[in-house]
Amino acid sequence: MKKKAPEADCETLIPLLIGVWRRFHKLAGPGDKLQTREFRSVVEGVQKIQAGKPIGQDKDMLGAYLLYDWIIHYQQALSLINELPHTPRRVLDICSGSAPMAFAALKHGASDVVAVDRNAAALQLGAEVCGRYGFPLTVREADCTKGPIPVEGKFDLIIVGHCLEELFPAAQKEWPVRQKAFVDSLLRRLTPQGFLLLVDSSLNETNRRILMLRDQLVSEGVPVQAPCVWRGECPALKAANSPCYAQRELVKPYMIKEIQRAAQINLSSLKMSYLILRHPEAGWPALPDLPLYRIISPPVETYQGKRFYLCGTDGKKNLGSHLKEHPLESRAFEYLRRGELISIEHALVKDNSLDIIEGTILKVVAAAGKAID
Ligand SMILES: C[S@@+](CC[C@H](N)C(=O)[O-])C[C@H]1O[C@@H](n2cnc3c(N)ncnc32)[C@H](O)[C@@H]1O
Repeated sequence: MKKKAPEADCETLIPLLIGVWRRFHKLAGPGDKLQTREFRSVVEGVQKIQAGKPIGQDKDMLGAYLLYDWIIHYQQALSLINELPHTPRRVLDICSGSAPMAFAALKHGASDVVAVDRNAAALQLGAEVCGRYGFPLTVREADCTKGPIPVEGKFDLIIVGHCLEELFPAAQKEWPVRQKAFVDSLLRRLTPQGFLLLVDSSLNETNRRILMLRDQLVSEGVPVQAPCVWRGECPALKAANSPCYAQRELVKPYMIKEIQRAAQINLSSLKMSYLILRHPEAGWPALPDLPLYRIISPPVETYQGKRFYLCGTDGKKNLGSHLKEHPLESRAFEYLRRGELISIEHALVKDNSLDIIEGTILKVVAAAGKAID
């Protein structure tokens, strides 16, 4: 049976995060909401982070991160960890910051989670959030690019969230080589059934970084659990300005809506570049023996009606329909969503276009955010 993602539980988390934020700033006040002056300072911090200013030891920005980015990144990881075929027990969160992704792993039922970052203050905040929620989190202060990660043993899941650009700035010489060596070193730390989860923003530059890394690793035989079922070179890299990223539902508590309104952030869903790699020896996931396609775009309105871009076991395609009304066997077309994995049989095929006609069978093999096996 496919597992359901745990509830985000923002009703419990928001007051808890505000409480941790208050103690961090040594401020008294109501437990469940920010006062006007506090809210303004959080919005200022969020705007600086959005503008790409490094957080470092800036207390206001660390606090703002906890009350905004934390909730977004936590929900990203909550959704992506659900794409693993089984619950990881031992998890390592690299460059964890205040540990939103480690928290998501704990929420999924992981029992031994280690967060590593060079920022002791951020780790402390993460440990406090987890502790107050009733979760154990082990934290280790370390620079991840200087020597091996100071934690023994192997992991069922290693998470690398929103940190590759900070670790390997594109302005530095030979960054792709050093980044690849780093990722290889993490793959060696996986248990045989383990996964490496890379998550980053959907911005073009970051997206290309993840897709290029994917091509390097796939060409060396490293199998992908999700999102790719195509084993060749990434089609998205062959066209300019053609990012390939995931989109998932975002739970927006009132505080997040208010911060977005004040900071003029237009974000209605989770948008992220991601890659879930399997242990290099594990082989690609076993799939049903028929062409499968990942939906990689929202519905695009064309003169032929709505179409979707697909990336499948036989490469990049697009899908539309010749039917006005769909019989049961192709009705799923009316509800398709980006991220879903589908099978299509007996479609009308012309070059890279597939069209639904009488007799086409369309099935959703894995819903967005669900594992394939
Ligand atoms: C944008 S934050 C991401 C935090 C968290 N993974 C998330 O998804 O919200 C990047 C983190 O990388 C950490 N970092 C950057 N370079 C590092 C290094 N060389 N060693 C350890 N941590 C590093 C920073 O301290 C910061 O907490």
